[in-house]
Amino acid sequence: MTLLDDQFAGKTAPSVPPRKAQGGAPAFFSAWEMQAYYGESYIVQGVNFDVREGEILALLGRNGAGKTSTLRTIARMDDPMLTHGEIWLDHKPLHEMKSYQAAQLGVGLVPEDRRIIPGLTVQENLELSQIAEPKGWSIERIYEHFPRLAERRAQEAVTMSGGEQQMLAVARILARDIKLLLLDEPYEGLAPVIVQEIERILEGVKELGITTIIVEQNAIAALHLADRAVILDMGEVVFDGTAQDVLDNAELRQEYLAI
Ligand SMILES: Nc1ncnc2c1ncn2[C@@H]1O[C@H](COP(=O)(O)OP(=O)(O)OP(=O)(O)O)[C@@H](O)[C@H]1O
Ligand SMILES: [Mg+2]
Repeated sequence: MTLLDDQFAGKTAPSVPPRKAQGGAPAFFSAWEMQAYYGESYIVQGVNFDVREGEILALLGRNGAGKTSTLRTIARMDDPMLTHGEIWLDHKPLHEMKSYQAAQLGVGLVPEDRRIIPGLTVQENLELSQIAEPKGWSIERIYEHFPRLAERRAQEAVTMSGGEQQMLAVARILARDIKLLLLDEPYEGLAPVIVQEIERILEGVKELGITTIIVEQNAIAALHLADRAVILDMGEVVFDGTAQDVLDNAELRQEYLAI
């Protein structure tokens, strides 16, 4: 019986993670036998992986492998619906939470479409993300780290370039107090020179020790940033190891990433 079943039986889940990360250190984030459906479609098919505190995990796989669905499940979106398994973050049971509770706990999802709010300036977009507690970085601190956003603080945010909007999407998350950053294709649609700029920003995020899961079609770029990699195929984990293992294993890349 899983803790989800227990929850439905009206019992209280114990506040300890169900297992340890590889290597003995307790996992900061842990997904255990996570299963999720869009309606009748079984998409996330029993996914297991851990992330240690401060680690960057690249979550890779071909188109339709289930990467976005996995991120959405972790962020506790209604779709896809979690039906089985446990998800733990910093000893708290995410699997028992709604998306707003996951956000309050510190799960920050930057979706592929970035969700920049039209009609608002850069500054207003940042202020809006600080309406609810707990707050993260001050807006001044954000401007120090993102000078481009500082220059454009009075500009309507959706009129900025794709790269600048991606910076804002990340900055908006840092404006909240986050424990787990979930990035869905942060380099998508950006010119190589802008990708490098976003990479530098994400390296800065890494230095701050923010635990991150990055999904990217540009697997090589993600692997250079990441410590570890998990590869999904048809909603299941087919590889879990170091980022270097994937970079060194041409066969694995060919089979599951087509690179
Ligand atoms: N809202 C939805 N309703 C039904 N099926 C969906 C929905 N969203 C995604 N799917 C299906 O779930 C599977 C996994 O999709 P998902 O978007 O998670 O893949 P992905 O790995 O992020 O792919 P991509 O690299 O193209 O972004 C696909 O077969 C997709 O068609
Ligand atoms: Mg996707």
